[in-house]
Amino acid sequence: MSVENITRESTLAQTQREYILAVRTMSEEFERLHGYKPRCMARTYGCQQNENDTERIKGMLAAMGYDFVEDPESAELIIFNTCAIREHSERKILGHLGAVLPYRRAKPDMKIVLCGCMTGQPHIAELIRKSYKYVDMAFSPGALYRLPQNLYKLLSGQKYVFDFEGGAENISEGMPVLREGKTKAWVSIMSGCNNFCTYCIVPYVRGRERSRIPEAVLEEVRELVKSGYREITLLGQNVNSYCKDLQLGYDFADLLRDINSIEGDFRVKFMTSHPKDATRKLFDVIAECDKIGRHVHLPFQSGSDAILQKMNRKYTCEQYMQIIDYAKSKIPGVSFSSDVIVGFPGETEEDFEKTLQLVRRVEFSSLFMFIYSPRRGTPAAEMPDQVPHEVSVDRFNRLAQLQNSISLRRNERLIGQTVTVLTDKPDGGSLYGGKTADDIRVRFDSHGTHIPEGQSVQVKIERAANWAVFGQTV
Ligand code: 5AD
Ligand code: SF4
Repeated sequence: MSVENITRESTLAQTQREYILAVRTMSEEFERLHGYKPRCMARTYGCQQNENDTERIKGMLAAMGYDFVEDPESAELIIFNTCAIREHSERKILGHLGAVLPYRRAKPDMKIVLCGCMTGQPHIAELIRKSYKYVDMAFSPGALYRLPQNLYKLLSGQKYVFDFEGGAENISEGMPVLREGKTKAWVSIMSGCNNFCTYCIVPYVRGRERSRIPEAVLEEVRELVKSGYREITLLGQNVNSYCKDLQLGYDFADLLRDINSIEGDFRVKFMTSHPKDATRKLFDVIAECDKIGRHVHLPFQSGSDAILQKMNRKYTCEQYMQIIDYAKSKIPGVSFSSDVIVGFPGETEEDFEKTLQLVRRVEFSSLFMFIYSPRRGTPAAEMPDQVPHEVSVDRFNRLAQLQNSISLRRNERLIGQTVTVLTDKPDGGSLYGGKTADDIRVRFDSHGTHIPEGQSVQVKIERAANWAVFGQTV
């Protein structure tokens, strides 16, 4: 990012901070009239990036004088932060949008807002304008930072506020964030994607890759650690291409090394990594850094070279295996998780068998499996030989069965061992929960001792299932 761009961004952020103050005055007026602050219900769909965007939305709203509630009935403002990755998620969201209409009818001052990846698609923007007239405001991911200005317009009486401009901008420096957790934090290090995998909508709705400057990321992590956060997850669609756009001679491995040298008791996770950009240096750095989790989420998508080529993934199955083998040779105990799609156009039984083979070879600790879903405007949606749904479902089930047996086998190896667990917020049940540094889910009995969120505890493993291991504190 050039100096001019940084200056331009800080001017844009300053404008929004002025709108924050203007809306805050409106909220104070509301509170004087009603005796309580205006309330927002925000619902998030999809990935961690979206969860993090909701934290930014809530940060801005808190600064604008809003409180937060869980039920739509009592809210003055309802926000749906949407996901477009598969058709199923879109249908679900439109269903939920329909379900709040009665509340809106009962409370005419209520405002309904739609944002996130779904609204980054022109045909959805059109659908909202035409068929969901009770949506008062909608904006695309690139316009998120303009929420204060857009909310000001809406509250000042403008009937509809639609903002689908500005895919290139993603201002995050200097804007408030309201984090959900007290011990685990997401830190977005970049936005957008340049890869255009042929099945994927993300590059169209989130725009091109833009990295935050390293010093801004390091400063945010330092602040989080100082405030007691114990786990930092670095987020980006492809963290391995971090900083390529800035041309600073600095890369993701350098960032990991610099974060590792920040003083404090914390651990670092990151996602997602694209195999084509996963360098040997990355694994060398993980091997030498004690705060970086020995776990990498490295989506392979398919085990067939023919399908990988049609997906525009830019690596072969063998190259993927070389990365895995190199990492295993450098980092004792390293584990991998992955994303995989079944039923991509043209996928034959033989191609699918190769996916099964790769899963057997790598032994992922967990696998996120998806049935291919055609996305309008992506090349794959136009490809011949779309796979019948029943064939995809059958492949999905066979793959799930294989992975379940691998996860169970891996987890059973932990029986008798003592592992370090960073605890989640207690859910009130008889068992506590948490995860190890390599992302294994652990449920354990603390013998009546109350253990708050964010503690490191030693747990001796006694039993394993495919989704978690179970034990007792020692
Ligand atoms: N259909 C099915 N799965 C998809 N993914 C992305 N786009 C699609 C699609 N059109 C999956 C990929 C990606 C994960 C986040 O979602 O596996 O890695
Ligand atoms: Fe989508 Fe591919 Fe970019 Fe991941 S790398 S967000 S799958 S286009």
